[in-house]
Amino acid sequence: MSKLVTIYGGSGFVGRYIARRFARLGWRVRVAVRRPNEAIFVKPYGAPGQVEPILCNIRNEASVKRAALGADAVVNCVGTFRRGGKNNFRAVHVQGAELVARAAREAGVAKLIHLSAIGASEDSASLYGKTKAAGEEAVRAAFPDAVILRPSVIFGTEDAFFNKFAAMAQFAPLLPIAGGKTKFQPVWVDDVALAAVNAVVTDAAPGIYELGGPEAMELQDILRRMLPVIQRRRLILNLPSALMGLPAFGFDLLETLTGGLLVNKLITRDQLKMLQHDNVVAQHVGKFEDLGVTPSAFEATIPDYLWRFRPSGQYAAIKDSARNLKKV
Ligand SMILES: NC(=O)c1ccc[n+]([C@@H]2O[C@H](COP(=O)([O-])OP(=O)(O)OC[C@H]3O[C@@H](n4cnc5c(N)ncnc54)[C@H](OP(=O)(O)O)[C@@H]3O)[C@@H](O)[C@H]2O)c1
Repeated sequence: MSKLVTIYGGSGFVGRYIARRFARLGWRVRVAVRRPNEAIFVKPYGAPGQVEPILCNIRNEASVKRAALGADAVVNCVGTFRRGGKNNFRAVHVQGAELVARAAREAGVAKLIHLSAIGASEDSASLYGKTKAAGEEAVRAAFPDAVILRPSVIFGTEDAFFNKFAAMAQFAPLLPIAGGKTKFQPVWVDDVALAAVNAVVTDAAPGIYELGGPEAMELQDILRRMLPVIQRRRLILNLPSALMGLPAFGFDLLETLTGGLLVNKLITRDQLKMLQHDNVVAQHVGKFEDLGVTPSAFEATIPDYLWRFRPSGQYAAIKDSARNLKKV
């Protein structure tokens, strides 16, 4: 019988790459999400029946326990950026994380991988960072041998980072940002997935691992390097956080007033607080190398999916070559 992994949030941006990697290794994969009907795209990752989305809400104890039954490994990829609503920071990052860890322990699961984030700290000014830290604490209390992965900002085809800024550059004459001098270490989604899989199959030591790409860079430099990829020239306007606070407040208010129908995906006040601190790998924690992963640079990957933001989209290369022909 092949081994079974349950991935809570296995249809999300990161979870789907972890699901695909486990499936390729021949594991059976249970993708535990609130909307399994919207997660059927994970089924072709394996042979028929190998990868199965199931209904689970990490705020519902019975469904979490049912999803963990019989699993050899559990990965928790559920996270949120929302302060309000039922699926808020505390419910997901703290209570949900604790519930998953407890369910895994009670079901006799051998390995638990928990996705947290760089910046998780009880002293964090942001609720995201605070609740991520409280969640880690709760996970360790319930499952002392858990492996906790803390990535920096993650990039990949479905990311909410490069895609957001590239979409802005498509329409706006300049890119207004806050925290332009804050350092990040962008990390490729499939490297995070490989780290999660290796943590299980190589029986990695329990504890915290911070995952960052090969280079730490200021946010404004990352965007400067992104612009040539989408063949656009834009002025990057690094605004003080206090000034960006006003639009962030407005977007948050709109989300509250519409009862969450309009989700603030641009910038929240909590994200502004996070932007005040560098988001890079610390010294005395586990790293990619301890999990047998050599991280890739974002410049090697982003042209594969940001081409759609070029002025001529997928025809940019053909247009360039036609221009050269005219010169001949
Ligand atoms: N993306 C980044 O740059 C980044 C950086 C650092 C750390 N992280 C962390 O990495 C983890 C994965 O992030 P991501 O970007 O992949 O998130 P994501 O794309 O938002 O995916 C979240 C997944 O969780 C599921 N989900 C949400 N609420 C749920 C609930 N109550 N019960 C069960 N499933 C639920 C979603 O599916 P349904 O909606 O169908 O339930 C989805 O499959 C998170 O912990 C995040 O904080 C991400």
